[in-house]
Amino acid sequence: MTLRFTLNGRPAEAEPAAPDQPLLYLLREEPFALNGPRFGCGLAQCGACTVLIDGRAVRSCSYPAEAVEGQSVTTLEGLGTKESPHPLQAAFNAEGAGQCGYCSNGMIMQSADLLSQNRRPSESEIKEALARNLCRCGGHNRMVAAVARAAAAMAG
Ligand code: FES
Ligand code: FES
Repeated sequence: MTLRFTLNGRPAEAEPAAPDQPLLYLLREEPFALNGPRFGCGLAQCGACTVLIDGRAVRSCSYPAEAVEGQSVTTLEGLGTKESPHPLQAAFNAEGAGQCGYCSNGMIMQSADLLSQNRRPSESEIKEALARNLCRCGGHNRMVAAVARAAAAMAG
């Protein structure tokens, strides 16, 4: 079955390797070869694989690829570029919010979902939004500061 969906703002087509192939694999393999979403636990527990589907954060390791038919998928690559980073990407850099960086994709994508729903979240709302995203380096405090910085920048 050929899937047709939107990927980072462009029409995309793909043939899943199996009916239950996780979306994460489809995105990371050829022809897309997107390495923003990471494989962490593979069990919807850590958040490293998070992408946006129709604007909402989804754990792509546990989301069947075939379910994206007709939907809009955004990965970290579609949020911003090195030349023109999204305010969240700029804020994570500015705050030094990340050590090994393995969790960064999930933290940023989950935060993008949060800021699309709540333009000026409180510290506790940011912490709550990121509570299910694991960071083994213990970088949560800087990440919370980065999300607050991005929210302020986006509010102008
Ligand atoms: S790899 Fe998907 S939640 Fe951990
Ligand atoms: S910065 Fe290393 S896991 Fe979060």
